[in-house]
Amino acid sequence: MPSTLAKERTLDDQYHTFLHDVIHGLRQAQKTLPCKYFYDARGSRLFEEICLLDEYYLTRTEYSILRSSGKSIAEALSTYTEIIEPGAGSCQKVQLLLKQLPTLPRYIPLEISVDALEHAITTLKERFPALRVHPVAGDFTAQACLDEVSTLCQSGRRLVFFPGSTIGNFNRTEALGVLRSLKALAGPSGALLLGADLIKDRQRLLAAYDDKRGVTAEFNKNILRRINHDLNANFDVDDGFKHRAIFNEGLSRIEMQLVACREQTVNVAGEKMDFHRGEVIHTENSHKYSEQSIAELASAADMEIHRAWKDPQGDFGVFLLGQK
Ligand code: AVI
Repeated sequence: MPSTLAKERTLDDQYHTFLHDVIHGLRQAQKTLPCKYFYDARGSRLFEEICLLDEYYLTRTEYSILRSSGKSIAEALSTYTEIIEPGAGSCQKVQLLLKQLPTLPRYIPLEISVDALEHAITTLKERFPALRVHPVAGDFTAQACLDEVSTLCQSGRRLVFFPGSTIGNFNRTEALGVLRSLKALAGPSGALLLGADLIKDRQRLLAAYDDKRGVTAEFNKNILRRINHDLNANFDVDDGFKHRAIFNEGLSRIEMQLVACREQTVNVAGEKMDFHRGEVIHTENSHKYSEQSIAELASAADMEIHRAWKDPQGDFGVFLLGQK
């Protein structure tokens, strides 16, 4: 884990990158904010709340696949010697795999939130005392972090675990880049275990991103609260913007937006940003896949689907991608 000085440097770098990304995004003709900034402490708590909502079927369905197909997944993974998990968060889902793989020697979680990582490691050490855990604090979208993880890897077969349909939050070009770098991380004898939300009825999709209790709305607006707090901005979060989720059929994705309720000028770290009434800040894409479109994406990254597990309704898929 990083030293105090390294932690301070990391925090300073994170502040400047955040400021740059926000100003850059809000200066575009179509204003955008990167969805990775949803996840400060409050945003992460709101996301955990979303995962428990009736409307948000993704998390419980992926868990149900990992549980009900646990034996078959474990058989397919039995020859791997390391699991690497980019964006590991609280390391909850991997525990279902670890229970089925009692002799797996090593687990390498990569996570941007040092607090989440420290907490998760304590739990893992209690529950899996024989497992060697090598945590890495960092952002898996930064190549330098993946390089650091690579240096920790030993000889043997690596499995990169990428659950939660996080792949859905990247557009096609980005998703291909992510898959390629995860493939490189897995190495020539490795594989990727990927969780992806599947295309389904539009109403269910929309409800999952615009729940009745308004938790997703608060999660979306939290990015503005975070900008206010961390970057000294003055967004009128409660009355100035409203949450909206739309389904973009052509691109097979839910798009989350924050819509300006009136004409307004917002100050972000001394920069003035004008909004007209109805103007949209595009905050997140959540792509929905089919087995076919996962196969196409995998193929473009020079991989193929070796195994696929789905729930009986076909809402969610867990795919083992390996060398062609
Ligand atoms: C983390 N990610 C896969 C979630 C999703 O479904 O795209 C984030 C989320 N956004 C709104 N609700 C949940």
